[in-house]
Amino acid sequence: MRHPRLLLGFRIVVFALAIAWPLGWAWRVAQGAAGPDPGRYLLLEFGIGALTLLLLVLALTPLAKLTGWPGFGLVRRQLGVWAFVYAFAHFACYLLFIIGLEPALLLADFSRRPYIIVGAAALLLLGVLAATSPQAMVRRLKKRWKPLHRLVYLALALVLLHFFWIVRADLGEWGRYALIALGLMLLRWPPLARRLGGWRRASGARTEINRRR
Ligand code: HEM
Repeated sequence: MRHPRLLLGFRIVVFALAIAWPLGWAWRVAQGAAGPDPGRYLLLEFGIGALTLLLLVLALTPLAKLTGWPGFGLVRRQLGVWAFVYAFAHFACYLLFIIGLEPALLLADFSRRPYIIVGAAALLLLGVLAATSPQAMVRRLKKRWKPLHRLVYLALALVLLHFFWIVRADLGEWGRYALIALGLMLLRWPPLARRLGGWRRASGARTEINRRR
């Protein structure tokens, strides 16, 4: 399971998928299959994509604990950076397709729409996390790296608030993402987190006994 080639292959597959996903959206736009407002289509896809990647990042630690497979831990920082890239592309779509690069509209939105300020705060946090995720920064920040990267929880809360503010009238889709986020937070609760590792060790021991029989 710890085969270096398998781990490298997994990292490459994750990288390729992260590029292929937006290429699929671009393909839909090129085919005229993205609805009447392709700019808005891309904005929403990148927004949902960034949130999905953020949730995936938080799912990797429980998955690694449950399976004991190091591959999940190895793609954590890569997926975190992709979450920022998608969030930045979402912001770029807003600048290009929603306000047409008009500074006056940007200022008006910032003063009139609190969800934009919340989104900007989340984007800023994701930027800080992406900038401090290379190995050189881990070494440089030493003990401060871990507490700094706990800001991912604040970023997730801000993104959910941003999303909530936009879809207040129909919370169905938002509720699904919020429920997944809550589930992932619960899995980090120390008594549950310890159990995840315990289940793996117990099932590993059972497999070993069965193998020897
Ligand atoms: C300066 C930063 C940001 C701006 C200006 C911005 C702007 C917007 C706008 C204009 C919308 C559509 C609102 C509507 O439907 O009327 C939106 C939706 C959304 N944004 Fe952002 N956003 C920002 C940051 C973020 C970040 C950092 C994330 C996630 C990491 C995010 C995730 C979402 C999601 C999930 C939606 C809802 C998509 C849907 O309804 O399908 N946004 N944002």
